[in-house]
Amino acid sequence: QPVLLKDYEPYPFAIPSVSMTFQLDPKETRVVTKMKVERTGAAHENMVLNGEAFERVGAMLVNGKQVDDDDMLKDDTTLTLMNLPHEFELETEIWISPEKNTELSGLYMSGGRFCTQCESEGFRRITYWPDRPDVMSVFSVRLEADVKLAPTLLSNGNPGIAGAISEERHFAEWHDPHPKPSYLFALCGGDYDVFADQFTTMSGNEVQLSIFVDKGDAERAAYAMDSLKRAMKWDEDVFGREYDLDVFNIVAVRDFNFGAMENKGLNIFNSAYVLADADTATDGDFEAIESIVGHEYFHNWTGNRITCRDWFQLCLKEGLTVFRDQEFSADMRSRPVQRIKDVIRLRGRQFAEDAGPLAHPVRPDRYGSIDNLYTATVYEKGAELIRALKTYIGEDAFKEGMDLYFDKYDGTATTIEAFYEGFEKAVGFDLSRFRTWYAQAGTPVVTIERVTSQDSNEAWLKLTQKIDPTPGQTEKKPVPIPLRLTAFTEDGTQINPETGEPCADHDSDVVLLMDQETDLALAPNAQNALVSANRNFSAPVKIQQDLTDAERLKLVTTETDSFAKWEALQTLSRAALLDMAKQIASGATPNVPTALVKAQAEATLATAGEDPAFAAQLLTLPGVGELFMEMTPADPAAIYEAKRLVRAALQAELKDAIFASLDAAKADTGEFSPDAASAGRRSLNAAYIDLLSATGTDHAERIYQAFDDAKNMTDTMAALRALSYCGGTYYDQAVSAFEAKWKSSPLVMDKWFSVQSTRPDHDAIERVKTLLEHEDFDWKNPNRVRSVAGAFAMGNHVAFHDASGDGYALLGDVIRKVDPLNGALSARLLTSFEQWRRVDEKRQALAKQVLTELQNAKLSKNAMDIVSRALAS
Ligand code: ARG
Ligand code: ZN
Repeated sequence: QPVLLKDYEPYPFAIPSVSMTFQLDPKETRVVTKMKVERTGAAHENMVLNGEAFERVGAMLVNGKQVDDDDMLKDDTTLTLMNLPHEFELETEIWISPEKNTELSGLYMSGGRFCTQCESEGFRRITYWPDRPDVMSVFSVRLEADVKLAPTLLSNGNPGIAGAISEERHFAEWHDPHPKPSYLFALCGGDYDVFADQFTTMSGNEVQLSIFVDKGDAERAAYAMDSLKRAMKWDEDVFGREYDLDVFNIVAVRDFNFGAMENKGLNIFNSAYVLADADTATDGDFEAIESIVGHEYFHNWTGNRITCRDWFQLCLKEGLTVFRDQEFSADMRSRPVQRIKDVIRLRGRQFAEDAGPLAHPVRPDRYGSIDNLYTATVYEKGAELIRALKTYIGEDAFKEGMDLYFDKYDGTATTIEAFYEGFEKAVGFDLSRFRTWYAQAGTPVVTIERVTSQDSNEAWLKLTQKIDPTPGQTEKKPVPIPLRLTAFTEDGTQINPETGEPCADHDSDVVLLMDQETDLALAPNAQNALVSANRNFSAPVKIQQDLTDAERLKLVTTETDSFAKWEALQTLSRAALLDMAKQIASGATPNVPTALVKAQAEATLATAGEDPAFAAQLLTLPGVGELFMEMTPADPAAIYEAKRLVRAALQAELKDAIFASLDAAKADTGEFSPDAASAGRRSLNAAYIDLLSATGTDHAERIYQAFDDAKNMTDTMAALRALSYCGGTYYDQAVSAFEAKWKSSPLVMDKWFSVQSTRPDHDAIERVKTLLEHEDFDWKNPNRVRSVAGAFAMGNHVAFHDASGDGYALLGDVIRKVDPLNGALSARLLTSFEQWRRVDEKRQALAKQVLTELQNAKLSKNAMDIVSRALAS
């Protein structure tokens, strides 16, 4: 029975403050919770508390007196208290077992240390509580533990007193003055190394910053710390938001279900997004660390100070915070390249989600399992909507609206409607039509046609929008689409298509599509001009435009908007690759698009010197996953082969540049720096090495040399990945050498597992089975499970969709293994089945069989939710 938005009702009690005592012990931790409670609803209302997976339940006192059995109802997941007074103190006592907790939700052990994960519904696994985001409380926490096992004891807020209890045990107290919902609660305890620093806020407050990591890893937290300080400064400069406690702590843990968590004053991170150095982390890792450290820090205002009334509002904090972290990264690095990467991610994950059985609106009105709502739609599309809103209403109104939101809703748990209030006030009109975006699943398709009148000399652009039906939503309304659009005349002059006036201005190019059809009259000199639409990807839509290949190639050289330049090449590549893939699938020999290959090579070389990061993007073809969505029936092997042929042609075209780049990388003796410019050079080198791998083992020896010469993990991984595409003995040799060198570094070994699991050959399935048996494989470590099973099912379309169905069966087996340990993890892996209806009928039948078997197995609620939605027609 799903939870429905329309059923929302305020909680009938307030808990202004709570104090908790934890007697920490891996086997059995005692938790005593004392809440001050005030009735806010009607006098007859009972108090329903969530609570589950407890070892034992002890005393239950109201105003110091044990509650009568008649006044209390307990089942597996709730406790109901009846006949309560208007104001009272409620004290509960329970015992939980952190070491038995493999779900990694609630209080658990990771690497022998205590840690928690409470969002969304983990706090109910720690104590009885109304575990919903609109119940906010001031928390005081006392932690007691063995002094050897856990010399460091952390919780939210500011530290209070600490000291010895006995020779073996000690305590530490924490107080968080900011009322918060239970999902932001955290505690950590263990023996850590610390990387420490300070930050002075804009009004002069000193904040002590600490990052707690495994013993010996402190130096590897330097980049995360640097990112944190830049994020704190950036939020002051750009959004005027200041930090609000005396300390800010980050703890890195090895076993974590997601990327990281924004607990107030005590962020907890998957160690993959904290630890980095030149030897062990790639530029991609550094970039992810900066982005996620920023993301969690920015949540302090968008999520913590102002939180969500209920989980239907998840995008209120996630979409907005992703938007903020994207802007942060854009300011720290290259804005155009950041935009391109954001769009690649959106298309790869969110467009796919929107087109399949798991499609849902950015703000859904129902859910079966809240864990499964942490999706690309809520996060990535949610961020695009904020960006589109900003384009729609303009920078000033956007700023005014944000400020009003921060002022008015600080300290509350609120809704999307409240968020829009400030923007509506700033623009002076109602934005309810824009909010339709939040209620409708599916990606709008905008078709752009040039229409010429028969009897007059007039011409116009006809822009139509359409959204296909999605599960449970057949009728779709038009949405306001702020489309950045401009025109270029024959000689490359940029003009406003309606006025015909020359323009160079980026801000005057927004066309607003309010209705299903919008006609845009073209000025006489714009009638034959080249129209470039959705510049900078101003709206999360698909564009269908009647341009010739020659016109698109022209855009590659004339456009001044970097995204649009890249997009013109991508659109051509998409079409060419799909065409080739269809021919391959039907047994024909495809033609390689020579003109396109030449243009792509030229565009790459033209930008390589000045902006290698952008050049690398120009050289990178659309992913198999993205093309998979456009082919019916989808044939990943044919798509891969089409890509291989184009990559081989690019290799021939760029041979000199490729070898020059490899030689330069070898000759480079400079110190490693993770900065954007250096990373950009390395990314172009990686794109070049990739091309070298497109012709089997032809260049395997040279790539192996690059692997051997590599002085940092970025170059190492680029070569290793390329070798994985070549196959052969050099690949095998590299795999062994890598393992021998990095065996004792778990995060590096994750990369080793993942490269092998994504190698798109027919042996992949057997290899993945072997990797699952590897002595370093660990079913309880989500990073490791993802590096094999996740990499295979989500990153190896060719093998996962193998005609034998063995890929599907393998994932089915993995799910049966993982699910009893960790339902959130198995549900996430199961989403790789979301596109099963796109493959041919034979494969569909095989996938369906596996899904049906899973449906009949006893799986967790999270897993069942995905399986049944995937199967629903
Ligand atoms: N709020 C966290 C973040 O975006 C993610 C929490 C994920 N929780 C979940 N149940 N999926 O930073
Ligand atoms: Zn977040």
